[in-house]
Amino acid sequence: MTYRIAVLPGDGIGPEVTREAVRVLEAVGAAAGIRFEFVEAPIGGAAVDATGDPFPPETEQACLAADAILLGAVGGPRWDREPVARRPESGLLRLRKGVGAYANLRPVRVHPALAGRGPLRPEVVGGGIDILIVRELTGGLYYGERGVQQEPFGERAYDTMVYTTPEIERVVRMAFQLARGRRRRVISVDKSNVLETSRLWRRVTEAVAEEFGDVELEHMLVDNAAMQLVRNPGRFDVLVTENTFGDILSDLGAALCGSLGLLPSASLGLPGRPPLFEPVHGSAPDIAGRGIANPLGAIASAAMMLRYAFGLEREARAVEEAVDDLLAAGPWTPDIAPPGAPVAGTEDVGRAVARR
Ligand code: NAI
Ligand code: MG
Repeated sequence: MTYRIAVLPGDGIGPEVTREAVRVLEAVGAAAGIRFEFVEAPIGGAAVDATGDPFPPETEQACLAADAILLGAVGGPRWDREPVARRPESGLLRLRKGVGAYANLRPVRVHPALAGRGPLRPEVVGGGIDILIVRELTGGLYYGERGVQQEPFGERAYDTMVYTTPEIERVVRMAFQLARGRRRRVISVDKSNVLETSRLWRRVTEAVAEEFGDVELEHMLVDNAAMQLVRNPGRFDVLVTENTFGDILSDLGAALCGSLGLLPSASLGLPGRPPLFEPVHGSAPDIAGRGIANPLGAIASAAMMLRYAFGLEREARAVEEAVDDLLAAGPWTPDIAPPGAPVAGTEDVGRAVARR
């Protein structure tokens, strides 16, 4: 079996961290007898420099021909003055749109070894935190009708939040399916005491839950969810929510982890389109080129690819366990090194994970 992976390193630390993720995938392939074929293509500022287009047609073709896409990060001060069509970020938006991903998966994992280095008190982290946030990505407030009107008193602006039954159904069903591979608990987050879309969300979620008698469902209001994520994160397994709430809660979740450099993500969606895997962080121009970026977010994104794109659960776990081992024992990049511990570089960490 050969899996074709489009690798889009992008800008800044993007190429530095994707190189290590590819190194780990190669080690998995060698150990498990799986062939990964990597096709590299430019995106973002690198693509603007090379072709004038942040998402050139060759890159789009490479992506659509692949079984999965691994992205680094795009952007940087060099391209901040470009017109919108030549901005690196517009390349990323076009990629995400082309992939048709309606679900964004953001795992929030806090290893017990990192307790005390993030903002949470060690007793809150307890035996570790392992939450999977599933955010609806192509509907709701960010896609509804919007506008600005002139009024005698000044301006009037509006945004509308719209959801349909099928839009809710598919993402909630995905959340329930994902829960089956985990601790079988879904918490659906909404604001049904105020919003009509949330009341529909709740009705549809109840109906989907009927298909999953083996998975426990709880509803939670979004304001309470924000509080519970900080006070009692251990009670969450899979959290599913609409676009805007998911945007905010996933960044809150990211803050719980201590370093942006640790966090992976996956964007899954339409059948027949390749899923997209990328670390949550950006191109980090402040540390780019110094070989000190934390590659674990990119490596954990590769682990998600093994699980969700290829169904290689055992191999995904092996990578995640290797990452956990490193969090506990080092080597550590500067962003997560315990006080007084020696610091390592991006490549040292990548090699150490690959070896394990
Ligand atoms: P950023 O995520 O690049 O960096 C924020 C802070 O976190 C920086 O201090 C950086 O050094 C640190 N950091 C990030 N990743 C790290 C890693 N792997 N290891 C160690 N430290 C890490 O966000 P920022 O600075 O707001 O944006 C920089 C550029 O990245 C901008 O051009 C922005 O548009 C772009 N960006 C791209 C994203 C993407 O490609 N998905 C997402 C976010 C920002
Ligand atoms: Mg955001």
